[in-house]
Amino acid sequence: MTGQPRTRVWDLPTRLFHWSLAALVVFSVVTAKVGGNWIDWHMRSGYAVLALLLFRIAWGFAGARYARFAAFVRGPQAVADYVRRLRAGDAARHAGHNPLGALSVLALLAVLLVQASTGLFANDAIASEGPLAKFVSGATSDLATRIHKLNQYPLFALVALHLAAIAYYHFAKRENLVLPMLTGDKPGRVGEPAADDLALRLRAVALLALAAGAVAFLVTR
Ligand code: HEM
Ligand code: HEM
Repeated sequence: MTGQPRTRVWDLPTRLFHWSLAALVVFSVVTAKVGGNWIDWHMRSGYAVLALLLFRIAWGFAGARYARFAAFVRGPQAVADYVRRLRAGDAARHAGHNPLGALSVLALLAVLLVQASTGLFANDAIASEGPLAKFVSGATSDLATRIHKLNQYPLFALVALHLAAIAYYHFAKRENLVLPMLTGDKPGRVGEPAADDLALRLRAVALLALAAGAVAFLVTR
């Protein structure tokens, strides 16, 4: 191999997951705000987000090294230690998510899961309702709608924090986190490389198909 040493940290499925999720979340918010006939696309996009989330949960157990929850979910002590060292300027670089970033990843996934699942029970008080609204009372559907509408604020806050953290690492820590999420690689030998071969990618395709099938089953009831 020529050039600088680099380490594969983000496998292709994780990268595709990330950029599809980001695009679909933006599209979901825009179609919700535009409203009108776009609500149909809003719902379809929400189903795709839900399928991606189910895939990511499965990938957290069966994915490549740094995509696994076990690789990045840390207790409060580890998070506190990391923050202290970050402020002192001697925090270790992490191949995958650092303990603080891991918290934001989990929060984003949880908030999006709430958003997509309450959407299934929501109604717009006019013509559209989520595919599962017919299985619950009007009051329950209204509650789901209220949560769905309120939950956009924590979602926006987390996305803003996400982007601010990336900018902070870029400008204050001189660490580009975005490039590895595009190419998969971090410069230097930052740890054991993650697997990213054909077998792993086929496993991802199978898990995504399962996740999409589960969502399709739910929304065609
Ligand atoms: C609505 C928009 C977005 C959402 C919902 C979102 C969500 C996420 C999630 C869930 C992860 C964890 C990835 C995983 O382990 O599977 C992540 C990581 C990441 N995202 Fe985003 N993201 C969004 C937009 C962006 C944008 C616009 C950028 C680039 C400017 C970006 C850059 C990154 C990077 C660099 C990481 C890896 C951070 C690390 O090294 O720990 N994201 N994002
Ligand atoms: C993660 C995916 C989703 C995001 C980010 C999202 C976001 C939003 C937002 C921000 C609104 C409020 C718009 C406003 O301010 O008035 C909204 C409304 C709505 N969403 Fe979603 N949504 C998602 C998924 C879904 C799904 C899966 C469904 C149903 C299948 C759905 C059904 C609706 C409906 C019916 C409304 C209209 C509520 C009303 O106008 O009273 N959403 N969504």
